[in-house]
Amino acid sequence: MLRIDILTIFPELFGVFLETAFVALARKQGAATIAAHNLRDWAQDRHRSVDDTPYGGGPGMVMTPEPLIPAIEALAGVKGPERKARVVCLTPQGEPLTQGKLAALAVGPPLLLVCGRYEGIDQRILDLGVDEEISIGDYVLSGGEVPAMVLIEGIVRLLPGVLGNPESIRTESFQGGALLEGPQYTRPPIYRGLSVPKVLRSGDHAAIDDWRRQNAQDRTRERRPDLLERAGSDSSVDQPE
Ligand code: ADE
Repeated sequence: MLRIDILTIFPELFGVFLETAFVALARKQGAATIAAHNLRDWAQDRHRSVDDTPYGGGPGMVMTPEPLIPAIEALAGVKGPERKARVVCLTPQGEPLTQGKLAALAVGPPLLLVCGRYEGIDQRILDLGVDEEISIGDYVLSGGEVPAMVLIEGIVRLLPGVLGNPESIRTESFQGGALLEGPQYTRPPIYRGLSVPKVLRSGDHAAIDDWRRQNAQDRTRERRPDLLERAGSDSSVDQPE
């Protein structure tokens, strides 16, 4: 069972998210325990403030070590080998998220996801309280809450027993391989004049596998040639089947 705690000033954002689809299923099945905590519960002053103006000037506000460090230590323990959870801060300055990273996080230890807001986070919070910084891409959002949801959604579907069909993990884009998935079709066989490729309706599984492999390769070459270059330099990656 994987425990995930979230530290945020907007815990209400996680309400419906935690009650829906595979995230809800993972919790119901006992594969994951997930809880959102309000950072303001650790604030000391009358205004329950969590931020202040930046030293050196400039726009916006910066999250202060008080109350963030006491909150992190209450939920994860003091930074060091004895700590009970890995503390991940979501920030555009972090290491880019990959499928491999999700797979590594899914096997534990417990996670504490720290959601930044405002213009940034006081560096001492990162130095004293955070084990790892992760970015979900080269763009800037207003806070780490949606990135934390991205991380959670990516992790829970990898937990044993959560996906109905583990085969779909094995064949989809990025898992254990460097290719994008090719096109997919379902009924009806013709829609607004567009037909499902004949081979997919042929029942010839070897031909279908060939068609899928070829289309995955073509699509990857066209849209993400960088993935093929990476695969070429790493002989351990598989191709989707
Ligand atoms: N917070 C704001 N933007 C972000 C991003 N791209 N990734 C992770 N956390 C963020």
